[in-house]
Amino acid sequence: MPKILVTRRTFPESAAALRASGAEVVVWEDADSPTKEGLIAAVCDIDGLYAHITNQVDAEVMEAAPNLKVIAEFGVGYDNIDINAANERGIAVGNTPDVLSESTADEAFALLTAMARRTYDLPAMVKRGEWGDFDPLGYLATDIHHKTLGIVGMGNIGSEMAKRAAGFNMEVLYFNRNRREREKEFGATYVDSLDELLERSDYVSLHNPLTPETTNMMSTDQFKLMKKSAILINTTRGPVVDQEALYEALKSGEIAGAALDVTVPEPIPADHPLLTLDNCLIMPHVASATGDTRMKMAMMCVENVLAGLAGDWPPYCVNQAAIAGNARLNR
Ligand code: DGY
Repeated sequence: MPKILVTRRTFPESAAALRASGAEVVVWEDADSPTKEGLIAAVCDIDGLYAHITNQVDAEVMEAAPNLKVIAEFGVGYDNIDINAANERGIAVGNTPDVLSESTADEAFALLTAMARRTYDLPAMVKRGEWGDFDPLGYLATDIHHKTLGIVGMGNIGSEMAKRAAGFNMEVLYFNRNRREREKEFGATYVDSLDELLERSDYVSLHNPLTPETTNMMSTDQFKLMKKSAILINTTRGPVVDQEALYEALKSGEIAGAALDVTVPEPIPADHPLLTLDNCLIMPHVASATGDTRMKMAMMCVENVLAGLAGDWPPYCVNQAAIAGNARLNR
């Protein structure tokens, strides 16, 4: 009987679907994710791993799991998995693309509107009983319509962000490794450098994956290029932004604000300097966290794991081309 480890609690429906396949299913029910040591101990006899962002699935973990055939990541980003190590071992890796693009763009746009129209700070002021007399110059916000949104990374999530911006009469610029044919669908304009995008945008929203090249992509020099009135939105991965540089840029007024769904580390400690700033809004990595989307993601993980255990490619496989033809199907 194949054995599957699910490294966080999951929906009853997804656990039931895994069990219905006849596999033994172990669900990690602890309040916290397994530590590295805990994960190594737990994978020694598993065939399938249903993993999450908090699991660093590296070569050491894979070495500890000689029967491992498939890893299903609960998310579109899989930077927590060492793909080269998986390729070398013929382990298929699946993720959950597309299904979370709209929810993630909804949250990114909600962060943009919260910063622009101050729904992140004014309600708390009202609750404190500090709402003063009508003041034509008080509580001023920033327009969204007819401002420029710069999107970094025009994949599925970036494209959904562009559609939302078009509905708000924004001008949309984007920077991407390749120019996208789809830009015409939502009237986005390609710029061929990140610098140009940063210089021209009122809002900058990050949707590129985390790679060695994009680590600390936004740092002191980039914040200097941005308008002093500009707002940064990050719903991709924390390490894409150099947080010390961001703190300095926000404190010195180099940029006007930032809204982050992702940080380094996660969770961010309550005494982190960024949390002392009034112009920084931080959410607990929840861009895909709606009940409907999370359920769809869970069921995609089930499909990926079960296909891998059956010796097929996971339907949402990220490394099929890299390992096709090698020993995966013999594992
Ligand atoms: C994703 O899908 O990548 C989310 O950030 C959850 O990890």
